[in-house]
Amino acid sequence: MKNVLSGIQPTGDLHLGNYFGAVKNWVKLQSEYKCHFSVVDYHSMTMPYNPIQLRENTWKMAFYLLACGVKLENLFIQSLVPEHLELAWVLGSTASYGELTRMTQFKDKTDQLKESDKDAFVSVGLFSYPVLQAADILIYHAEYVPVGKDQEQHLELSRNIAQRFNNQFGKEYFVQPEPLFTETPKILSPADPTRKMSKSLGEKHYINLFGEEDRVRKQIKSAVTDTGDTPEGEMSAGVGNLFELLRACEQMEAHDSLMDDYKAGALRYSDLKEAVANAIVDLINPFKERYEAILADKKAVKGQIQESSAAIRQIARQTMREVREITGLPTLRS
Ligand code: AMP
Ligand code: TRP
Repeated sequence: MKNVLSGIQPTGDLHLGNYFGAVKNWVKLQSEYKCHFSVVDYHSMTMPYNPIQLRENTWKMAFYLLACGVKLENLFIQSLVPEHLELAWVLGSTASYGELTRMTQFKDKTDQLKESDKDAFVSVGLFSYPVLQAADILIYHAEYVPVGKDQEQHLELSRNIAQRFNNQFGKEYFVQPEPLFTETPKILSPADPTRKMSKSLGEKHYINLFGEEDRVRKQIKSAVTDTGDTPEGEMSAGVGNLFELLRACEQMEAHDSLMDDYKAGALRYSDLKEAVANAIVDLINPFKERYEAILADKKAVKGQIQESSAAIRQIARQTMREVREITGLPTLRS
């Protein structure tokens, strides 16, 4: 069975973009592949953060993933497998400085930091973030990595790192991982459909998967439909995004009938929005119920996640034993 690995940062809420772009796929892949899904808390230390919040958000994200249908035995917390860092150090010498400076996520996050303070502190952690991501993937010999389109460049780097390591040590040791994209690669912000749905843009730009029904309905009701710059005869990005959400929620009947209205020039935006809001509410209600059940049993579930992380750690340890052998480090006493 082929291996799959993916990760998500514990940055608070989980939104519809994360779900349709990544997590929905994770849940589906579990029946076909050997899967490992990680809450990547080490990665979240690369931007300014609060320690109490990091710990809280890490558990919260793990619970959210379980509520979405990720299986307990496939779920782990990155920092409970510290071998990822050891491999990242080794791989750091197979990635070049120039290559890392070209990473768009690094550039975007640097710009974001400098927006509020032009002399902002940009950490080495933020710079070498993609090397740690490569280690996350390679340590499990993952063939496939289900992520959103924005992670394509990081995956390309992971492949280069794997190949360079193999060439350097004359051994086909690491697998070159391929990204797996979903059919809904990009969900847009309801408040500004020229940008992708994202937490970093602020609360009105994302729809929380575990949010209140009233808020979801309000957000869809006030979703921007016309931005004024759509060429004649083309569908605006905002309307396109609402149709995309219906499709993503697998409401094809409503989608097709509203699309017929649109083509006939008879679409009422209020009807489209109502259908989208209903579809989202129906999607998220069961997730919210499962999340509440997990919270009611929080302590036990935390213990179970620690156990699954410890079990997954055994795979990472084995890889590191082999990597130490290959790269000329002495054997650890075990
Ligand atoms: P992030 O919250 O940006 O760390 O992203 C976590 C995962 O969700 C990654 O696999 C992203 O590619 C995916 N993702 C984030 N935002 C979107 C979006 N607006 N549309 C589709 N996928 C997304
Ligand atoms: N960089 C990814 C993101 O921003 C998160 C991530 C970290 C990841 N390690 C990973 C994704 C390994 C896939 C595989 O979304």
